[in-house]
Amino acid sequence: MKTPLRYAFVTLALAANVAGAQTYPTKPVTMVIPFAAGGPTDVVGRLLAQSMSKTLGQQVIVENTVGAGGTIAATRVARAAPDGYMVLLHHIGHSTAPSLYRKLPYDALNGFEMLGLVTDVPMTVVAKGNFQAKDFGEMVRYVKANKESINLANAGTGSASHLCGLLLQDAISTKVTTVPYKGTGPAMNDLLGGQVDLMCDQTTNTTSYIKSGKIKAYAVTTPKRLAVLPDLPTTREAGLPAFEVAVWHGMYAPKGTPGDVVTKLNGAMKVALKDPLVIERFAGLGTEPVAETRATPEVHRQFLTAEIAKWKSVIEKAGVQPE
Ligand code: MLT
Repeated sequence: MKTPLRYAFVTLALAANVAGAQTYPTKPVTMVIPFAAGGPTDVVGRLLAQSMSKTLGQQVIVENTVGAGGTIAATRVARAAPDGYMVLLHHIGHSTAPSLYRKLPYDALNGFEMLGLVTDVPMTVVAKGNFQAKDFGEMVRYVKANKESINLANAGTGSASHLCGLLLQDAISTKVTTVPYKGTGPAMNDLLGGQVDLMCDQTTNTTSYIKSGKIKAYAVTTPKRLAVLPDLPTTREAGLPAFEVAVWHGMYAPKGTPGDVVTKLNGAMKVALKDPLVIERFAGLGTEPVAETRATPEVHRQFLTAEIAKWKSVIEKAGVQPE
């Protein structure tokens, strides 16, 4: 019996789809980074991209799409074709944006396929090299006495440095002027130049400058001191156990990306997290890849759901009004 022409087309289309997933990727993949080149998110993204390129057999090309605390980049990926050729590498800011922006052009949870968690990065409270305080207690006293003239840098509303700055100001009950940048890479340039006084930023950006003495460091926001910065006290040692935050990072694809493609991207990401070069570079920057059990789409979705709820209540308690 002759197969009707339309069944032949459907069969061909299905075969092409299956073949597509099996041969994916056949061209370079774009990894969108929501902050400026040279910053901590960029550092994590480029290390992953370099390793994933080897596993996927196609270049994973990093593109920095900056602005609005990472939400412009997230919008770009949410609207991209669900074909696996554009992914987003973002951090904790993806879970705070729903509480900090009234009208997000995307659904942070349901507008994306989760590709897995990547790493948790500690944050450090740092200052320009000639800041007038030798330790955390003296820094707090100086900031309280000079709050009108103190500038605190961040990477825009919803960035990790913005969130950490909120936690710091809440912990010391003092509000200062904040200066937003397109990333803490550019912000670090002004901290090094003395144009801005303080910043709360990830060790993936601050470690080398702390070690070289070019900036001052007062505390790290983890329960225990870091092997890479053994002389830096924790916020808990400074008497602020509630002021603890680690910047988790995850990877995303547009909603509707085929399951086979999600599996291939997640697989390449997990290989990168076991890459000796990635592990070594992460260690030198105060962080490490997440345990393999956390690098799954399912755990990523559960974790993001909980984080969105957690930061909603923290942000509301801090009295921060959404933009
Ligand atoms: C942040 O503060 O969210 C990031 O450190 C920004 C960046 O990666 O530049």
